[in-house]
Amino acid sequence: RNSALRKIKDALSSACDFYHQYLRRDTERAVEARTYLLERGFSDSLIDQFQIGYAPLGSSELVNYLLSKGFSSDVILESGLGVASKYGTGLFDMFRDRIMVPLQDHEGQVIAFGGRVFPYKSNEQKSTFGPKYLNSSETRVFKKSEILFGAQYLLQQKEKPEHVVIVEGYFDVLTMNQAGIWYATASLGTALSLRQIEIASKLSKTKKVILNFDNDIAGHTAACRAADHLLEAASRRGIELYIALLPEGVKDADEFIRLYSASDYIERVLNNAIPLVEWRAQMALQDYDGSVESKTRCIETLGNIFSKIGSASYRSQLAHYFAERITENVDDPHRIVSTEDQILR
Ligand code: UTP
Ligand code: MN
Ligand code: MN
Ligand code: MN
Ligand code: MN
Repeated sequence: RNSALRKIKDALSSACDFYHQYLRRDTERAVEARTYLLERGFSDSLIDQFQIGYAPLGSSELVNYLLSKGFSSDVILESGLGVASKYGTGLFDMFRDRIMVPLQDHEGQVIAFGGRVFPYKSNEQKSTFGPKYLNSSETRVFKKSEILFGAQYLLQQKEKPEHVVIVEGYFDVLTMNQAGIWYATASLGTALSLRQIEIASKLSKTKKVILNFDNDIAGHTAACRAADHLLEAASRRGIELYIALLPEGVKDADEFIRLYSASDYIERVLNNAIPLVEWRAQMALQDYDGSVESKTRCIETLGNIFSKIGSASYRSQLAHYFAERITENVDDPHRIVSTEDQILR
């Protein structure tokens, strides 16, 4: 069993080298891939640090390479690098004509890939195929919810950072690293798991984890979900979850840094991060329109949110603050206290 796992991991490492070396070749698309990366501001040393590569256009170039290295079809299939053709017995490359970002486990072992399409320079009418990002499907060595992209590079540093940032995308992490923000990780999309915030908190000096998801509905929904599902377990583990918000119109960390600078990102985004629980409560408050029904709803939601806070004094402090905001007659302190009691039940 272990030797089968070993072979799968070896195949993934070989694929990583293959893609990384292919990016340096002089084929038309490899050159265009380099141009794309250059235009996004990534240096050769960043490309080396993250072992970024290019998966060629052909239907089974990687598969043939791995077969020639002695890997069996089963291993290639199980590693997620090859897919069986519908007809006949051949294997096709899973990733074709994509910029490849390897994902590593905490030991630095490659366990999966994310592949991004990139535009054609030479032939503008030609369109790219498939979704923007294609990720390896889950395999025996890759469980999506257990991996935090970039964590591996943080482990290699001499010192732990004060806090770790979790963003959505690989390319956010790449841009942040290129700009000197080395304590960035990505959750691979939006569904954040407890395991992932545990990994992040262990990498930081203070167990402080700052979420900075995309500034769109998907990102906000993901942050709400994280608040509702992870706050309680996080607080029990002493993990402090914060959320950093991007200004309106700026999509993600990558775009912010490109538009402004890394120091602006630190000053205006990270340094203004607020506790996730407070942000979640503010979101609930957006439902409040002054009506009795919306007040009842708010009390219910706020109660649920605050019940996840470990510290009783913090809990009542927040309940008081938000009670003031949903009490019709704030000149009557008894009413505020009564709302507060209803929130805390
Ligand atoms: P985004 O679409 O926000 O990617 O998806 P991005 O990093 O901003 O991409 P750029 O800047 O256009 O290059 C964030 C993450 O969601 C997952 C990937 O993990 C991606 O990094 N995702 C996104 C997919 O798995 N598939 C997709 O088609 C899109
Ligand atoms: Mn290299
Ligand atoms: Mn997005
Ligand atoms: Mn994004
Ligand atoms: Mn982006």
